[in-house]
Formats: sequence, structure tokens, C-alpha cells
Amino acid sequence: MLNIALPKGRLGEQVYQILEEAGYPCPSIREENRKLVFENPQAGVRYFWVKPSDVAIYVERAAADIGIAGKDILLEYQPEVYELADLGVGKCRMCVAGKKGSREVRDQILRVATKFPKIAKNYYSALSRDIDIIKLHGSIELAPLLGLSDVIVDIVETGTTLLENNLEVKETIVPISARLIANKVSYKFKHEEIIRLCQQVDGLANSKEAAQ
Ligand code: PRP
Repeated sequence: MLNIALPKGRLGEQVYQILEEAGYPCPSIREENRKLVFENPQAGVRYFWVKPSDVAIYVERAAADIGIAGKDILLEYQPEVYELADLGVGKCRMCVAGKKGSREVRDQILRVATKFPKIAKNYYSALSRDIDIIKLHGSIELAPLLGLSDVIVDIVETGTTLLENNLEVKETIVPISARLIANKVSYKFKHEEIIRLCQQVDGLANSKEAAQ
């Protein structure tokens, strides 16, 4: 049985759809209830819904053999896992954003509000830019509006949140998408099952990409 950590929410539903099409269905997962664990012994899978930012922890610590995590989470927490495939869903980008028309004052320490302190630190240290990180947990766009920060480092998907708050992208740091990850020990001991699933899912992701 493969234990698979799925990110709760819209991305998880998209990812489950891919796994179902790839030959790993678990119909009970579509039932409306508050259960968190679903299994289909015939297909050899047990799924569980996990907070998206926790998927990598479950996989790193072997509570799950594999899981699906955003590249943003992998870059931020750098878990000890194998990254096996890009699923081509959950696409967005990590950006620096600020107030429309605002300009950076180069000789001042830049105040950066973010949920992703490590990504922000790495980005600015490569530019040799001194910054002051303000770690927030949500509604990051408020920070420059209220003068809490000069810029934000955050995920931009459609760009609507920025637009509706009079903010704009200043720089793109890195493109993001959902990745299939595996626990290092499971990868060794459940090698065949994991590779088979990875190939099925990867093939499907590639054919979807080609069709777009
Ligand atoms: C994310 C992100 C942005 C928004 C971007 O927030 O932090 O706020 O989505 O999406 P858009 O470009 O399509 O508007 P999330 O919905 O995770 O909520 P949060 O404020 O709790 O971080």
C-alpha cells in the first residue's frame, strides 16, 4: 500500500483527479464528509488530506511515502525528500510586489513582508541587498498598503489580489507548480510502486501539457 499525502483544497482535488486518471482511484474520497483518510486496497493506495504546507513534513518523516507539495514549500523548507515530477498544476509564480508606481530607495534597508522568509532572504542576499524580513501568515498584500513593509514576497496566481489592492509585480523570483515528492526510505523499499506511479502521473502531466 502506498501512503499518499494530498494537499487539502482546490489543488488537492486537481491532483487527485490526475491520480485517479493515472490508475489510482479511491471513490470514497469524493464522499462529502470530514474524514481525512481514504483507502482503496485494490489500487494499493491510501490517501490522506493534509494542510498544503504540511505535506513535505509528512513525507520527510515517513508518515507518507509520497505526497504532492508546491515548489514554494519545497524551496522554503528544503525538506529531505526526493522531488520526482512536476505535475504541471498549481502553476503560479513567486514575486516581489509593491505599491503601483512605488520606487525602491537603494540605500535604505528594504522592509519585506512575507510568508516565505527563506526564499526572500536567498533572493535578496544573491543581490547583496540588505533587508528586514517581516514574517506574516496571510493577507500579505495589506503590509505595503498600511506602511508595514516596502514590498512583499508572495505567490501571484491570477494577479487579481494585487490588482484589486493597487499593487503590482516588481520582479518575478521563480515559477511555482505542484511537485510529486517521495520519502527517501520509501523510495528505496517501495521503489517499483513509486516509480510506476511516477511514470503514470508524469506521462499524464506531459500529455496534458502538450494538449494545452
Ligand atoms: C495567495 C497569495 C495571494 C493570492 C494570490 O493567498 O498569498 O494573496 O493567493 O492569488 P491571485 O494572484 O490569484 O490573486 P491565499 O489565498 O493562500 O491566502 P492568504 O492571504 O491566507 O495567504
